[in-house]
Amino acid sequence: MVDVNDVDYTVKVDVKQLEPATVYYYQFSVAKGAVKTAVGRTKTLPAEDAAVDKIAIASVSCAYYAYGEFTAYGKIAEKYEDLDIVLHLGDYIYEYGNVNGADGTESALFSKVLLAQQSRAPVGKSMLPPTTCVSLEDYRQRYALYHTDVNLVELHRVLPWIVVPDDHEVVDNGYEDGAAAHDPATQGPYQLRVNAGLRAWHEWVPNRQFRAPAAYQRFYRAFQFGTLAELIMLDTRYDGRDKQAPQPTSADDFVDYAKITATNKIMGDVQMAWITDKLATSTAQWKVIGNQVPFTDTVDIKTVAANPLTIALINTDSWAGYKASQQQLLAAMENVQDVIILTGDIHTPFAMQVFQKANGQPYAAEYVTTSITSPGIGEFAQDGLGIGPAIQNIIVDAVLASPNVVNLELFCHGYHITTYTATEVTAQYYCMDDIHDPTNAAERESWKYVTCSGTNTVVEAADAAC
Ligand SMILES: [Fe+2]
Repeated sequence: MVDVNDVDYTVKVDVKQLEPATVYYYQFSVAKGAVKTAVGRTKTLPAEDAAVDKIAIASVSCAYYAYGEFTAYGKIAEKYEDLDIVLHLGDYIYEYGNVNGADGTESALFSKVLLAQQSRAPVGKSMLPPTTCVSLEDYRQRYALYHTDVNLVELHRVLPWIVVPDDHEVVDNGYEDGAAAHDPATQGPYQLRVNAGLRAWHEWVPNRQFRAPAAYQRFYRAFQFGTLAELIMLDTRYDGRDKQAPQPTSADDFVDYAKITATNKIMGDVQMAWITDKLATSTAQWKVIGNQVPFTDTVDIKTVAANPLTIALINTDSWAGYKASQQQLLAAMENVQDVIILTGDIHTPFAMQVFQKANGQPYAAEYVTTSITSPGIGEFAQDGLGIGPAIQNIIVDAVLASPNVVNLELFCHGYHITTYTATEVTAQYYCMDDIHDPTNAAERESWKYVTCSGTNTVVEAADAAC
Protein backbone atom coordinates (compact mmCIF):
# COMPACT_ATOMS: atom_id res chain seq x y z
CA MET A 1 0.00 0.00 0.00
CA VAL A 2 1.39 3.38 -1.00
CA ASP A 3 1.32 6.09 1.64
CA VAL A 4 0.56 9.11 -0.55
CA ASN A 5 1.43 11.51 2.26
CA ASP A 6 5.00 10.25 2.29
CA VAL A 7 6.92 12.68 0.05
CA ASP A 8 10.48 11.88 1.16
CA TYR A 9 10.63 14.91 3.49
CA THR A 10 10.33 17.32 0.56
CA VAL A 11 8.12 20.41 0.92
CA LYS A 12 6.03 22.13 -1.74
CA VAL A 13 3.68 25.02 -1.31
CA ASP A 14 1.21 25.78 -4.10
CA VAL A 15 0.83 29.50 -3.44
CA LYS A 16 -2.42 31.09 -4.66
CA GLN A 17 -3.40 34.66 -5.54
CA LEU A 18 -0.02 35.81 -6.79
CA GLU A 19 0.30 38.83 -9.08
CA PRO A 20 1.33 38.16 -12.69
CA ALA A 21 4.80 39.07 -13.99
CA THR A 22 6.07 39.65 -10.47
CA VAL A 23 9.28 38.60 -8.72
CA TYR A 24 8.69 36.93 -5.34
CA TYR A 25 11.14 35.87 -2.66
CA TYR A 26 10.53 33.00 -0.24
CA GLN A 27 12.14 31.15 2.62
CA PHE A 28 11.40 28.08 4.72
CA SER A 29 12.17 27.81 8.40
CA VAL A 30 11.89 25.16 11.10
CA ALA A 31 12.14 25.09 14.88
CA LYS A 32 10.35 28.43 15.24
CA GLY A 33 12.76 30.14 12.88
CA ALA A 34 15.89 28.79 14.52
CA VAL A 35 16.91 27.16 11.23
CA LYS A 36 16.25 28.94 7.95
CA THR A 37 16.85 28.04 4.34
CA ALA A 38 18.50 30.36 1.87
CA VAL A 39 16.12 32.95 0.39
CA GLY A 40 14.67 31.72 -2.88
CA ARG A 41 13.50 33.84 -5.78
CA THR A 42 10.86 33.15 -8.41
CA LYS A 43 8.82 35.01 -10.97
CA THR A 44 5.22 34.55 -12.07
CA LEU A 45 4.05 34.36 -15.67
CA PRO A 46 2.52 37.46 -17.30
CA ALA A 47 -1.27 37.58 -17.65
CA GLU A 48 -2.46 35.75 -20.78
CA ASP A 49 -3.63 38.94 -22.50
CA ALA A 50 -0.66 41.07 -21.42
CA ALA A 51 1.58 42.70 -24.01
CA VAL A 52 5.11 41.43 -23.36
CA ASP A 53 8.19 42.91 -25.07
CA LYS A 54 10.61 40.09 -24.51
CA ILE A 55 11.03 36.71 -22.86
CA ALA A 56 14.19 34.65 -22.44
CA ILE A 57 14.40 30.91 -21.81
CA ALA A 58 17.52 28.96 -20.80
CA SER A 59 17.15 25.40 -22.12
CA VAL A 60 19.03 22.48 -20.54
CA SER A 61 19.02 18.70 -20.57
CA CYS A 62 20.98 15.59 -19.64
CA ALA A 63 22.96 16.01 -16.42
CA TYR A 64 25.06 12.87 -15.87
CA TYR A 65 26.37 13.33 -12.33
CA ALA A 66 29.39 11.03 -12.54
CA TYR A 67 30.54 12.31 -15.92
CA GLY A 68 31.27 15.94 -15.12
CA GLU A 69 30.60 19.15 -13.24
CA PHE A 70 27.29 21.01 -13.42
CA THR A 71 29.05 24.35 -13.92
CA ALA A 72 26.68 25.20 -16.79
CA TYR A 73 23.84 25.40 -14.23
CA GLY A 74 26.00 27.87 -12.30
CA LYS A 75 26.60 30.02 -15.38
CA ILE A 76 22.88 30.23 -16.08
CA ALA A 77 22.29 31.21 -12.44
CA GLU A 78 24.70 34.14 -12.89
CA LYS A 79 22.46 35.42 -15.73
CA TYR A 80 19.20 35.11 -13.79
CA GLU A 81 18.22 38.75 -14.09
CA ASP A 82 18.07 38.43 -17.88
CA LEU A 83 16.03 35.20 -17.86
CA ASP A 84 12.38 34.29 -17.32
CA ILE A 85 12.61 30.53 -16.86
CA VAL A 86 14.85 27.50 -16.95
CA LEU A 87 13.42 24.86 -19.27
CA HIS A 88 14.66 21.35 -18.43
CA LEU A 89 13.91 18.98 -21.30
CA GLY A 90 14.73 15.70 -19.59
CA ASP A 91 17.41 13.47 -18.04
CA TYR A 92 17.49 15.58 -14.89
CA ILE A 93 19.03 12.47 -13.32
CA TYR A 94 20.53 9.30 -14.76
CA GLU A 95 19.47 5.96 -13.33
CA TYR A 96 22.81 4.23 -14.00
CA GLY A 97 25.02 2.84 -11.27
CA ASN A 98 28.75 3.40 -11.08
CA VAL A 99 30.90 2.00 -13.81
CA ASN A 100 32.36 -1.28 -12.60
CA GLY A 101 29.58 -1.43 -10.06
CA ALA A 102 27.63 -4.63 -9.65
CA ASP A 103 25.42 -3.82 -12.61
CA GLY A 104 27.58 -1.38 -14.57
CA THR A 105 26.99 -3.46 -17.69
CA GLU A 106 23.58 -1.85 -18.20
CA SER A 107 25.21 0.97 -20.12
CA ALA A 108 28.15 -0.69 -21.84
CA LEU A 109 28.83 2.12 -24.31
CA PHE A 110 28.35 4.85 -21.70
CA SER A 111 30.72 2.95 -19.41
CA LYS A 112 33.37 2.82 -22.12
CA VAL A 113 33.10 6.55 -22.76
CA LEU A 114 33.13 7.32 -19.04
CA LEU A 115 36.19 5.14 -18.38
CA ALA A 116 38.08 6.74 -21.29
CA GLN A 117 37.31 10.17 -19.90
CA GLN A 118 38.28 9.23 -16.36
CA SER A 119 41.60 7.86 -17.55
CA ARG A 120 42.44 11.32 -18.89
CA ALA A 121 40.83 13.56 -16.31
CA PRO A 122 39.36 11.87 -13.24
CA VAL A 123 36.06 13.45 -12.27
CA GLY A 124 36.04 11.74 -8.90
CA LYS A 125 32.27 11.72 -8.57
CA SER A 126 30.35 8.58 -7.71
CA MET A 127 26.70 7.72 -7.96
CA LEU A 128 24.51 7.05 -4.92
CA PRO A 129 23.12 4.50 -4.72
CA PRO A 130 26.15 2.87 -6.41
CA THR A 131 23.90 0.54 -8.39
CA THR A 132 21.25 1.23 -11.01
CA CYS A 133 18.04 2.78 -9.65
CA VAL A 134 15.03 0.47 -9.65
CA SER A 135 13.05 1.07 -6.45
CA LEU A 136 11.48 4.23 -5.01
CA GLU A 137 14.22 4.35 -2.38
CA ASP A 138 16.88 4.15 -5.11
CA TYR A 139 15.45 7.05 -7.08
CA ARG A 140 14.97 9.15 -3.94
CA GLN A 141 18.59 8.63 -2.96
CA ARG A 142 19.68 9.62 -6.47
CA TYR A 143 17.71 12.90 -6.31
CA ALA A 144 19.13 13.60 -2.87
CA LEU A 145 22.63 13.10 -4.29
CA TYR A 146 21.94 15.50 -7.16
CA HIS A 147 20.67 18.09 -4.71
CA THR A 148 24.06 18.17 -2.97
CA ASP A 149 25.37 19.90 -6.12
CA VAL A 150 25.81 23.61 -5.41
CA ASN A 151 25.34 24.72 -9.02
CA LEU A 152 22.07 22.84 -9.41
CA VAL A 153 20.72 24.12 -6.10
CA GLU A 154 21.72 27.70 -6.91
CA LEU A 155 19.91 27.62 -10.23
CA HIS A 156 16.78 26.38 -8.48
CA ARG A 157 17.16 29.18 -5.92
CA VAL A 158 17.19 32.05 -8.40
CA LEU A 159 14.77 31.07 -11.20
CA PRO A 160 11.53 29.20 -11.78
CA TRP A 161 11.91 25.97 -13.76
CA ILE A 162 9.60 24.18 -16.17
CA VAL A 163 10.62 20.53 -16.19
CA VAL A 164 9.61 17.42 -18.10
CA PRO A 165 11.06 13.94 -17.50
CA ASP A 166 12.58 11.89 -20.33
CA ASP A 167 13.77 8.30 -20.23
CA HIS A 168 16.61 8.39 -17.69
CA GLU A 169 14.33 9.58 -14.91
CA VAL A 170 13.27 5.91 -15.03
CA VAL A 171 15.31 3.79 -17.50
CA ASP A 172 17.14 4.21 -20.82
CA ASN A 173 14.95 4.38 -23.93
CA GLY A 174 11.69 3.51 -22.20
CA TYR A 175 8.37 3.27 -24.02
CA GLU A 176 4.86 2.79 -22.72
CA ASP A 177 5.11 -0.93 -21.93
CA GLY A 178 8.81 -1.49 -21.29
CA ALA A 179 12.41 -0.65 -22.06
CA ALA A 180 15.21 -2.68 -23.58
CA ALA A 181 17.31 -1.90 -20.51
CA HIS A 182 14.60 -3.12 -18.09
CA ASP A 183 14.60 -6.81 -17.13
CA PRO A 184 11.32 -7.81 -15.45
CA ALA A 185 12.87 -11.08 -14.24
CA THR A 186 15.38 -9.27 -12.02
CA GLN A 187 13.92 -5.75 -11.74
CA GLY A 188 10.23 -6.52 -11.36
CA PRO A 189 7.21 -5.20 -13.28
CA TYR A 190 8.08 -2.26 -15.57
CA GLN A 191 5.10 -0.19 -14.47
CA LEU A 192 6.18 -0.34 -10.82
CA ARG A 193 9.58 1.01 -11.81
CA VAL A 194 7.96 3.81 -13.82
CA ASN A 195 5.77 4.70 -10.85
CA ALA A 196 8.79 4.72 -8.52
CA GLY A 197 10.93 6.91 -10.81
CA LEU A 198 8.18 9.39 -11.59
CA ARG A 199 7.02 9.58 -8.00
CA ALA A 200 10.52 10.55 -6.85
CA TRP A 201 10.66 13.03 -9.74
CA HIS A 202 7.43 14.66 -8.55
CA GLU A 203 8.77 14.84 -5.03
CA TRP A 204 12.10 16.46 -5.88
CA VAL A 205 11.60 18.75 -8.88
CA PRO A 206 9.59 21.97 -8.93
CA ASN A 207 6.24 20.87 -10.22
CA ARG A 208 2.79 20.60 -8.71
CA GLN A 209 2.66 17.57 -6.42
CA PHE A 210 0.43 14.75 -7.60
CA ARG A 211 -0.62 12.16 -5.11
CA ALA A 212 -2.21 9.43 -7.21
CA PRO A 213 -0.01 7.08 -9.24
CA ALA A 214 -1.99 7.61 -12.46
CA ALA A 215 -1.42 11.37 -12.24
CA TYR A 216 2.35 10.86 -12.21
CA GLN A 217 2.12 10.26 -15.93
CA ARG A 218 0.31 13.30 -17.34
CA PHE A 219 3.07 15.71 -18.29
CA TYR A 220 1.81 17.59 -21.32
CA ARG A 221 0.65 21.11 -20.55
CA ALA A 222 1.03 24.72 -21.74
CA PHE A 223 2.24 28.04 -20.32
CA GLN A 224 1.37 31.39 -21.82
CA PHE A 225 3.75 34.37 -21.70
CA GLY A 226 1.22 37.10 -22.46
CA THR A 227 0.44 37.44 -26.15
CA LEU A 228 4.10 37.01 -27.12
CA ALA A 229 4.60 33.25 -26.71
CA GLU A 230 2.96 30.06 -25.58
CA LEU A 231 5.17 27.22 -24.38
CA ILE A 232 3.55 23.91 -25.30
CA MET A 233 5.18 21.10 -23.33
CA LEU A 234 4.92 17.63 -24.84
CA ASP A 235 5.37 14.21 -23.28
CA THR A 236 6.97 11.95 -25.86
CA ARG A 237 8.05 9.34 -23.30
CA TYR A 238 5.33 8.20 -20.91
CA ASP A 239 2.12 8.67 -22.87
CA GLY A 240 1.34 6.06 -25.51
CA ARG A 241 4.84 5.66 -26.97
CA ASP A 242 5.29 2.54 -29.12
CA LYS A 243 8.41 0.40 -28.88
CA GLN A 244 11.40 1.72 -30.84
CA ALA A 245 12.06 0.26 -34.29
CA PRO A 246 15.25 -1.84 -34.56
CA GLN A 247 18.39 0.18 -35.36
CA PRO A 248 19.10 -0.03 -39.11
CA THR A 249 22.68 -1.06 -39.83
CA SER A 250 22.75 -0.72 -43.62
CA ALA A 251 21.04 1.26 -46.36
CA ASP A 252 19.04 -1.91 -47.18
CA ASP A 253 17.59 -1.95 -43.64
CA PHE A 254 15.79 1.26 -44.49
CA VAL A 255 13.06 -0.64 -46.26
CA ASP A 256 12.01 -2.47 -43.08
CA TYR A 257 12.73 0.58 -40.94
CA ALA A 258 10.50 2.76 -43.10
CA LYS A 259 7.66 0.21 -42.86
CA ILE A 260 7.84 -0.12 -39.07
CA THR A 261 8.22 3.58 -38.38
CA ALA A 262 5.38 4.55 -40.72
CA THR A 263 2.86 3.37 -38.13
CA ASN A 264 4.92 4.09 -34.99
CA LYS A 265 3.47 6.61 -32.55
CA ILE A 266 5.54 8.59 -30.04
CA MET A 267 2.51 9.76 -28.08
CA GLY A 268 -1.13 8.88 -27.46
CA ASP A 269 -3.95 10.10 -29.70
CA VAL A 270 -5.46 12.32 -26.99
CA GLN A 271 -2.20 14.24 -26.59
CA MET A 272 -1.76 14.56 -30.37
CA ALA A 273 -5.29 15.98 -30.64
CA TRP A 274 -4.45 18.35 -27.78
CA ILE A 275 -1.33 19.80 -29.42
CA THR A 276 -3.05 19.98 -32.81
CA ASP A 277 -5.77 22.08 -31.20
CA LYS A 278 -3.23 24.16 -29.28
CA LEU A 279 -1.34 25.06 -32.45
CA ALA A 280 -4.55 25.94 -34.29
CA THR A 281 -6.07 28.06 -31.53
CA SER A 282 -3.17 29.63 -29.63
CA THR A 283 -3.53 33.39 -29.39
CA ALA A 284 0.21 33.86 -28.81
CA GLN A 285 2.55 34.93 -31.56
CA TRP A 286 5.29 32.35 -31.00
CA LYS A 287 4.20 28.76 -30.54
CA VAL A 288 7.15 27.21 -28.67
CA ILE A 289 7.09 23.43 -28.42
CA GLY A 290 9.10 21.98 -25.53
CA ASN A 291 10.00 18.49 -26.57
CA GLN A 292 12.29 15.76 -25.23
CA VAL A 293 13.73 14.07 -28.34
CA PRO A 294 14.74 15.49 -31.76
CA PHE A 295 11.80 16.15 -34.06
CA THR A 296 13.65 16.71 -37.34
CA ASP A 297 15.51 13.92 -39.16
CA THR A 298 19.24 14.58 -39.07
CA VAL A 299 20.09 11.76 -41.46
CA ASP A 300 18.06 10.48 -44.39
CA ILE A 301 18.42 7.75 -46.97
CA LYS A 302 20.46 10.01 -49.23
CA THR A 303 22.91 10.83 -46.42
CA VAL A 304 23.41 7.15 -45.66
CA ALA A 305 23.78 6.25 -49.34
CA ALA A 306 26.45 8.96 -49.70
CA ASN A 307 28.22 8.06 -46.46
CA PRO A 308 27.42 4.66 -44.84
CA LEU A 309 29.06 5.74 -41.55
CA THR A 310 26.14 8.08 -40.89
CA ILE A 311 23.86 5.08 -40.33
CA ALA A 312 24.96 5.19 -36.68
CA LEU A 313 23.32 8.61 -36.36
CA ILE A 314 19.85 7.32 -37.15
CA ASN A 315 18.10 7.76 -33.85
CA THR A 316 15.26 5.24 -33.57
CA ASP A 317 14.28 6.77 -30.21
CA SER A 318 13.62 10.20 -31.77
CA TRP A 319 10.61 11.33 -33.88
CA ALA A 320 12.53 10.00 -36.91
CA GLY A 321 11.63 6.53 -35.61
CA TYR A 322 7.96 7.49 -35.15
CA LYS A 323 6.91 8.63 -38.58
CA ALA A 324 3.16 8.35 -37.92
CA SER A 325 3.37 10.98 -35.17
CA GLN A 326 5.97 13.07 -37.00
CA GLN A 327 3.65 13.32 -40.03
CA GLN A 328 0.66 14.19 -37.82
CA LEU A 329 2.51 17.03 -36.12
CA LEU A 330 3.84 18.35 -39.44
CA ALA A 331 0.27 18.43 -40.72
CA ALA A 332 -0.76 20.33 -37.58
CA MET A 333 1.96 22.92 -38.28
CA GLU A 334 1.08 23.34 -41.97
CA ASN A 335 -0.97 26.52 -41.55
CA VAL A 336 0.62 27.87 -38.37
CA GLN A 337 3.31 30.55 -38.42
CA ASP A 338 6.15 31.14 -35.97
CA VAL A 339 6.61 27.68 -34.49
CA ILE A 340 9.83 27.06 -32.56
CA ILE A 341 10.81 23.60 -31.27
CA LEU A 342 13.14 23.34 -28.26
CA THR A 343 14.71 19.92 -27.79
CA GLY A 344 17.30 18.10 -25.67
CA ASP A 345 18.32 14.44 -25.57
CA ILE A 346 21.28 14.06 -27.92
CA HIS A 347 23.98 15.76 -25.82
CA THR A 348 25.11 17.65 -28.90
CA PRO A 349 23.95 21.10 -30.08
CA PHE A 350 22.05 21.20 -33.34
CA ALA A 351 20.29 24.03 -35.19
CA MET A 352 17.73 22.76 -37.68
CA GLN A 353 15.06 23.84 -40.11
CA VAL A 354 12.11 21.49 -39.84
CA PHE A 355 11.57 19.88 -43.27
CA GLN A 356 9.88 21.95 -46.00
CA LYS A 357 6.31 22.81 -46.84
CA ALA A 358 5.13 22.62 -50.47
CA ASN A 359 5.99 26.31 -50.82
CA GLY A 360 9.59 25.66 -49.77
CA GLN A 361 9.29 27.29 -46.34
CA PRO A 362 10.36 25.22 -43.33
CA TYR A 363 7.60 24.18 -40.92
CA ALA A 364 9.51 25.52 -37.93
CA ALA A 365 12.96 26.14 -36.49
CA GLU A 366 14.30 23.50 -34.09
CA TYR A 367 16.97 24.54 -31.62
CA VAL A 368 18.47 21.48 -29.88
CA THR A 369 20.27 22.27 -26.64
CA THR A 370 23.29 20.21 -25.66
CA SER A 371 23.82 18.32 -22.40
CA ILE A 372 24.92 19.75 -19.10
CA THR A 373 27.50 16.93 -18.91
CA SER A 374 26.42 13.72 -20.69
CA PRO A 375 28.77 12.55 -23.46
CA GLY A 376 27.69 13.62 -26.93
CA ILE A 377 28.14 12.36 -30.45
CA GLY A 378 31.80 13.47 -30.39
CA GLU A 379 32.69 11.49 -27.26
CA PHE A 380 30.73 8.45 -28.43
CA ALA A 381 32.56 8.51 -31.77
CA GLN A 382 35.96 9.11 -30.21
CA ASP A 383 35.88 7.04 -27.03
CA GLY A 384 33.04 4.61 -27.65
CA LEU A 385 33.64 3.67 -31.28
CA GLY A 386 37.30 4.67 -31.75
CA ILE A 387 36.58 7.06 -34.66
CA GLY A 388 39.34 9.66 -35.10
CA PRO A 389 39.04 13.39 -35.96
CA ALA A 390 39.43 12.96 -39.75
CA ILE A 391 36.48 10.56 -39.99
CA GLN A 392 34.50 12.66 -37.49
CA ASN A 393 34.83 15.62 -39.86
CA ILE A 394 33.64 13.53 -42.79
CA ILE A 395 30.54 12.49 -40.80
CA VAL A 396 29.83 16.10 -39.82
CA ASP A 397 30.09 17.21 -43.45
CA ALA A 398 27.71 14.43 -44.51
CA VAL A 399 25.15 15.48 -41.90
CA LEU A 400 25.50 19.16 -42.82
CA ALA A 401 24.54 18.21 -46.39
CA SER A 402 21.03 17.44 -45.07
CA PRO A 403 18.63 20.26 -45.98
CA ASN A 404 17.33 20.14 -42.39
CA VAL A 405 20.61 20.60 -40.53
CA VAL A 406 22.03 24.11 -40.32
CA ASN A 407 24.77 23.32 -37.80
CA LEU A 408 26.00 20.86 -35.20
CA GLU A 409 29.03 20.76 -32.92
CA LEU A 410 30.45 17.38 -31.86
CA PHE A 411 32.12 18.45 -28.61
CA CYS A 412 30.12 20.98 -26.62
CA HIS A 413 28.37 20.81 -23.25
CA GLY A 414 26.40 23.72 -21.88
CA TYR A 415 23.03 25.22 -22.80
CA HIS A 416 21.30 27.73 -25.03
CA ILE A 417 19.21 30.81 -24.40
CA THR A 418 16.35 31.63 -26.74
CA THR A 419 15.02 35.18 -26.62
CA TYR A 420 11.63 36.10 -28.09
CA THR A 421 10.43 39.49 -29.34
CA ALA A 422 7.69 40.52 -31.76
CA THR A 423 10.10 40.45 -34.71
CA GLU A 424 12.47 37.56 -34.00
CA VAL A 425 13.78 34.71 -31.90
CA THR A 426 17.50 34.56 -31.20
CA ALA A 427 19.22 31.37 -30.07
CA GLN A 428 22.57 31.89 -28.36
CA TYR A 429 24.47 28.65 -27.69
CA TYR A 430 27.08 28.33 -24.93
CA CYS A 431 29.76 25.66 -24.45
CA MET A 432 31.65 25.15 -21.19
CA ASP A 433 35.46 25.18 -21.43
CA ASP A 434 35.94 21.97 -19.42
CA ILE A 435 33.14 20.09 -17.66
CA HIS A 436 35.71 17.78 -16.06
CA ASP A 437 37.44 20.52 -14.09
CA PRO A 438 35.49 21.75 -11.04
CA THR A 439 37.72 24.83 -10.81
CA ASN A 440 37.01 25.92 -14.40
CA ALA A 441 33.56 27.42 -14.85
CA ALA A 442 34.50 29.42 -17.94
CA GLU A 443 32.28 29.22 -21.00
CA ARG A 444 32.47 30.46 -24.57
CA GLU A 445 29.70 31.94 -26.65
CA SER A 446 29.12 29.59 -29.54
CA TRP A 447 26.60 30.09 -32.38
CA LYS A 448 23.98 32.79 -32.45
CA TYR A 449 21.09 32.11 -34.79
CA VAL A 450 17.97 34.08 -35.57
CA THR A 451 14.49 33.12 -36.75
CA CYS A 452 12.68 36.16 -38.13
CA SER A 453 8.92 36.20 -37.61
CA GLY A 454 7.11 34.78 -40.64
CA THR A 455 10.10 32.80 -41.96
CA ASN A 456 10.63 29.66 -39.80
CA THR A 457 14.24 29.73 -40.99
CA VAL A 458 17.52 29.54 -39.06
CA VAL A 459 19.92 32.32 -40.08
CA GLU A 460 23.24 33.41 -38.59
CA ALA A 461 22.67 36.48 -36.45
CA ALA A 462 25.13 38.57 -38.46
CA ASP A 463 23.12 37.90 -41.63
CA ALA A 464 19.61 38.28 -40.20
CA ALA A 465 17.48 41.22 -41.30
CA CYS A 466 14.18 40.83 -39.49
FE1 LIG B 1 20.43 12.23 -22.01
